[in-house]
Amino acid sequence: MNTNQFGKEGWTPERVGNLNGKTYLITGANAGAGFEASKILLSKGAEVVMLNRNEQKSNKAIADLKKEVGAAAKVSFIKMDLAELSSVRSAAKEVIKRVSNIDALICNAAIAQVAKQTFTADGIESNLGVNHYGHFLLVNLLFDKVAQSKGRIVVVASEGYKMGLKTIQFEDMNFDKNYHPNNTYCHSKLAQMMFAYELQNRIKAANKEVQVYVCHPGASKTSLIRKDAPFMTRFMWSIMSSLPIVQSAEKGAYPEVMCATEENLNQAAYFGPTGRLQWTGPVGECEMESFVKDRAIAKKLWTVSEEQTGEPFQV
Ligand SMILES: NC(=O)c1ccc[n+]([C@@H]2O[C@H](COP(=O)([O-])OP(=O)(O)OC[C@H]3O[C@@H](n4cnc5c(N)ncnc54)[C@H](OP(=O)(O)O)[C@@H]3O)[C@@H](O)[C@H]2O)c1
Repeated sequence: MNTNQFGKEGWTPERVGNLNGKTYLITGANAGAGFEASKILLSKGAEVVMLNRNEQKSNKAIADLKKEVGAAAKVSFIKMDLAELSSVRSAAKEVIKRVSNIDALICNAAIAQVAKQTFTADGIESNLGVNHYGHFLLVNLLFDKVAQSKGRIVVVASEGYKMGLKTIQFEDMNFDKNYHPNNTYCHSKLAQMMFAYELQNRIKAANKEVQVYVCHPGASKTSLIRKDAPFMTRFMWSIMSSLPIVQSAEKGAYPEVMCATEENLNQAAYFGPTGRLQWTGPVGECEMESFVKDRAIAKKLWTVSEEQTGEPFQV
């Protein structure tokens, strides 16, 4: 049996010390787990730069965070739409201009369970485009800055990685033939995880000082299931959300905050709630299926991702 390295209660934000002088970048921080992670980091004195797509929602999130944490909270936002590679490029430029060090870049934003196949501005199927390619390009463009800061990259994954195709569908990355709201989402989350572990391999080979962590929020009450999800998914989620099998968005934020701040974590691991189905419960090291670390597939995915984003990624 897996014993939790943080004890029976698992990891909690009480473990986080004073983060004064540290800067965290979080994608999709105006809602859900990203918003809650921002709140925890700000409450410990950190600076948080949110990378969000919607200005109005971001301004509201900043006002809400200041109300809860205090007017002096060091929180700002840079506009970035992961569904537009040009927007990711301009956001990365802005980050490099405005932010002096990146202690952690938290790849948190995502879309999920979109009923019908949709495309990004660059003609890529949206789940893969937003969740994987958008973040792949962002991490690529900010990698040197993270390395200069001896910082971390945190990839927020999903238990869904093992509920879909369980491999990368190179022959039809846009799911033209078999689009499915859940499988296509799960495929994009698996891609994010394979990228993260492959990034670790390349960082090690290049002898760079960047740590990469992979975590998931379990099942958390956020706004992930939206009106563009199939009716049955929304219906089921509304029932599930009222039961204790789903936890709060705040608890869902613990794994990403832990991965951004805790010392001496095992990078090879996969972190999240360790209770029933790994949906809720004490945060710690979770079980993960071995196909995530298939290097032949990960290397191929890396090359395809460079091609799709139009940017070589040399670690
Ligand atoms: N909630 C769960 O049970 C669960 C389970 C497994 C994994 N996860 C993972 O947890 C992470 C956080 O999700 P959440 O549950 O907190 O969902 P959420 O409440 O929907 O938050 C998602 C965030 O991503 C942003 N976003 C979506 N598309 C974007 C784009 N094109 N460009 C920039 N930002 C974009 C959203 O912005 P807008 O508000 O503008 O749309 C929002 O801020 C995701 O990686 C998700 O896959 C969640």
